[in-house]
Amino acid sequence: MATIHSYVCYCCFSETLEKYSYSIRRLCETLLGFIAESLGLRPSFFNEMFGEAVQAVRMNYYPPCSRPDLVLGLTPHSDGSALTVLQQDTASVGLQILKDGAWIPVHPIATALVVNVGDTLEVRAPYKSVEHRAVTNRESDRLSLVTFYSPSYEIELGPVPEMVNDKPCMYRRYNHGEYSRHYITNKLEGKKRLEFARIQTSL
Ligand code: OGA
Ligand code: NI
Repeated sequence: MATIHSYVCYCCFSETLEKYSYSIRRLCETLLGFIAESLGLRPSFFNEMFGEAVQAVRMNYYPPCSRPDLVLGLTPHSDGSALTVLQQDTASVGLQILKDGAWIPVHPIATALVVNVGDTLEVRAPYKSVEHRAVTNRESDRLSLVTFYSPSYEIELGPVPEMVNDKPCMYRRYNHGEYSRHYITNKLEGKKRLEFARIQTSL
């Protein structure tokens, strides 16, 4: 249960959030370095490509729900970010990922963060963004703290030529700000918002 033990004043809260966000920024830069290396690219590849990265923080509070069989906390979706870092309550399980057609719960580990690959990385690397959702619980409420790490809105990005090889290119070039607008003005519906970036092929 996400019990509120005491009140935290606004300045302590914003200072803590600022420090946390800074650490998450360093973490995402490091992870993107490793991801680039795993693809045979130089470690700075994505960090240079993404320009001055944009971070958004969302806190989701899911109250207890008497009918978890009928009510979802968050509809299935993939994130529009490059990477998402999620910290979740250890008292209840709510996050699920879609794997081979089945919803798999992501059990919280007190000292661990969950990292999702987002649509922005899928367009540029052979790593698929993960479709996920949040379910509700009958007895306990749940809190999650989610940071979305994305390229600068000014940047126009296409697939990485080194990753395309001889396969037909699936995604087009687009401005990340435009993509973000599309993302937030369309409803959560699996990975549907990624269609924005897809090259339409007529069979
Ligand atoms: C999100 C998200 C999952 C959760 O905010 O995009 O997927 O467990 N949250 O709150
Ligand atoms: Ni999400």
